[in-house]
Amino acid sequence: MAEIIWGFGTSHVPSIGAAMDHGKTQTPYWKALFDSYAPARQWMAEHRPDVVVIVYNDHANAVDLDLVPTFALGTAESYEVADEGWGRRPVPPVIGAPELSEHLVRELVDDSFDIATFNRLDTDHGLTVPLSVYCPDPGEAWPCTVVPLLVNVIQYPQPTAARCHALGKALGRAIRSFPQDLKVAVFGTGGMSHQLAGARAGLINTEFDRMFLQTIETDPEKLAALTREDYIREAGTEGIEMIMWLVMRGALSDDITRVHETYHVPASNTAVGAALFEDHGGKAAA
Ligand code: DHB
Ligand code: FE
Repeated sequence: MAEIIWGFGTSHVPSIGAAMDHGKTQTPYWKALFDSYAPARQWMAEHRPDVVVIVYNDHANAVDLDLVPTFALGTAESYEVADEGWGRRPVPPVIGAPELSEHLVRELVDDSFDIATFNRLDTDHGLTVPLSVYCPDPGEAWPCTVVPLLVNVIQYPQPTAARCHALGKALGRAIRSFPQDLKVAVFGTGGMSHQLAGARAGLINTEFDRMFLQTIETDPEKLAALTREDYIREAGTEGIEMIMWLVMRGALSDDITRVHETYHVPASNTAVGAALFEDHGGKAAA
């Protein structure tokens, strides 16, 4: 049976990917952030999953605003890297895990999550930057296959944090019931506090971010009880991306240990966070 071995919450700021693509990670602006990733990257490289489920949002790059599914899962054999206006990032294509995807869609629908499916999808920085944070030097191929799980965080009304947490629990059950012996990691992406436009552009709320980083480990129900308006007020219009970390947390068991944490301000306009959790209870009960 498939087993969840770890969960990783990480920001997906596009300039983190650009810094890597253009060899700037050791410049004064970027060095501290990339140095802080080193222990997590080492641990993840020593605990490679076969497949990662990446909970992320498209930023109207690959999916236009004519149709905005609240939750959607990719079922393709592979996914192109999206051209976001400056050409594609020079990273490998994303190879899918269609058998696992189809299992997850069916299990989630049977578990009352009527999830949409993407049979073709380009993946924007929301997915490729977390892959680069995980694996900075993929060479010709990423070291894992990928199941994209998309959440609408850009158009009102976004799903509630509670619904995201519940989706994560259903996702965890669905992964653990997959009959192949796969090692699976789950990524929750986005955040931390940031607002890209409007009167509060540039907003950073370190107190809220630090509370979130701590509480996602110990009391995710408390974060799930916050409204979408709470997230936007405290973390900014784009900071609501943090609700996607709750999908990741919901998929993990309660028997987790924190392996690593990064908190760094800013990258671009954004507070950057990363939190890595080993899951000791990620196997289905016999
Ligand atoms: C930035 C952050 C994001 O999460 C994003 O999707 C786009 C831009 C930024 O800070 O520049
Ligand atoms: Fe974003």
